Amino acid sequence: MKIKNICCIGAGYVGGPTMAVIALKCPNIKVTVVDANTEKIKAWNGPLVNLPVYEPGLADVVGKARGKNLFFSDDIKGAIEQAEMIFMAVNTPTKTSGEGAGMAADLTYIESCAKDIAKYAKSDKIVIEKSTLPVRTAEKIKDILEENSNGIKFEILSNPEFLAEGTAIKDLFKSDRVLIGGDMTSSGQLAVQALVDIYRNWIPKEKIITTNVWSSELSKLASNAMLAQRISSINSLSALCEKTGADIGELSKAIGMDHRIGPHFLNASVGFGGSCFKKDILNLVYLCKFYGLIEVAEYWHQVVKINDYQKNRFAQKIIEYCGGRLKGKKITVLGWAFKANTNDSRESPAINVTEMLYNAGADIEIYDPMVEKKTIYSDIKLYWRSKKASENITILDEVKPEDLKNDITVIITEWDEFKGLDYSKTKLFDGRYIISNEMIG
Ligand code: UDX
Ligand code: ADP
Repeated sequence: MKIKNICCIGAGYVGGPTMAVIALKCPNIKVTVVDANTEKIKAWNGPLVNLPVYEPGLADVVGKARGKNLFFSDDIKGAIEQAEMIFMAVNTPTKTSGEGAGMAADLTYIESCAKDIAKYAKSDKIVIEKSTLPVRTAEKIKDILEENSNGIKFEILSNPEFLAEGTAIKDLFKSDRVLIGGDMTSSGQLAVQALVDIYRNWIPKEKIITTNVWSSELSKLASNAMLAQRISSINSLSALCEKTGADIGELSKAIGMDHRIGPHFLNASVGFGGSCFKKDILNLVYLCKFYGLIEVAEYWHQVVKINDYQKNRFAQKIIEYCGGRLKGKKITVLGWAFKANTNDSRESPAINVTEMLYNAGADIEIYDPMVEKKTIYSDIKLYWRSKKASENITILDEVKPEDLKNDITVIITEWDEFKGLDYSKTKLFDGRYIISNEMIG
């Protein structure tokens, strides 16, 4: 089956960059990205410097394909009707209420997306799960599609996205692997082949692996859990280093040189953030509990607990340095994004650390090169427990060396531009990748 027309529902951090790269690499396929948020679609169609997602290299790719075979639209119905293949790249946050609250994935957006597909589809479709989903979601999607449409055939594939924000375009151009899960029936395998053919336009054959749907769904959760586990492991050791006088940077280097362990993803930090790790581990924990695997659930849950511990520990160090109270102290927080080179602040450690400093009485100044002011304010409003926050908080448009005259400067995101600043007038606490006993001198 040769695919000529693709639709992607969800123009966010996953859908936007992934579809831009597919369009660039497959000039003969028309790719339409739709979203329920019309403002977002407007921004995707607007100036390349103001795209809703900031990613190095993304504006260039969008600039080359947009208007040729890449389109951003709010006509969800039309895009579904025309496409032979539909990607679902909508958000799947952790549930906040009902069964599994605080752990299981909230599938509301996926369900409403599936209902739209069922409602508007007039011909057979291949539907692809792109968002990270709990294992066996494909079954649920299939039920919704079949209940709500009349006689149309849907093949559901799982094709989890492994891109990391900040390097999304690089990761999409040169993926470690592309994973495609499909039903073992002949029509399922035809659908898998149609997707393989798309990726074969730029991904070598040996890097494309095909599995059954459940293996594919679980591999995504497991990959993220294993990656996050490395960070929690090294972060737990940073606490021990600070007690013993060992240096976490030296430790990390020495451990990583063992080729069985490897050097990547071993940087101690103030804690991991981002929309995937915590959510996916909690999902895994929920799944294990569901199947009665309590010890396995506990094992993985500890990865998230160490992450919370590390964020707390970092804020506590600053508070203790100031004698337990920050009343009257001015603190500059540099970085709000969960990592460098993205404008995404979901689950950013900056949100929790700054809240703790604020609650201890500090006046706060915040600066991030890419996260918009309105996002910082809304993160504070949504995620801080202290609701009257916003008094004694200033968000800066830029930061110059002479601004760094406050008592304390905290670097939370490892943006390059913070590397050259002069901190000589302030006490520096660097949470990103350098937590060691030297931090507080
Ligand atoms: C992650 C996975 O890497 C990606 O494969 C998956 O598709 C989505 O989740 P992402 O969350 O975008 O990607 O970024 P990643 O680079 O994995 O970083 C996650 C967090 O870990 C960040 O807060 C980062 O700063 C932190 N981190 C990373 C460390 O603290 N130490 C490290 O050594 C590496
Ligand atoms: P991710 O990091 O998974 O890409 P985002 O939140 O950045 O998550 O993007 C998900 C996008 O999906 C959002 O822009 C949201 O408006 C869109 N979305 C959610 N539900 C629907 C839906 N039912 N129909 C269309 N778009 C949707």
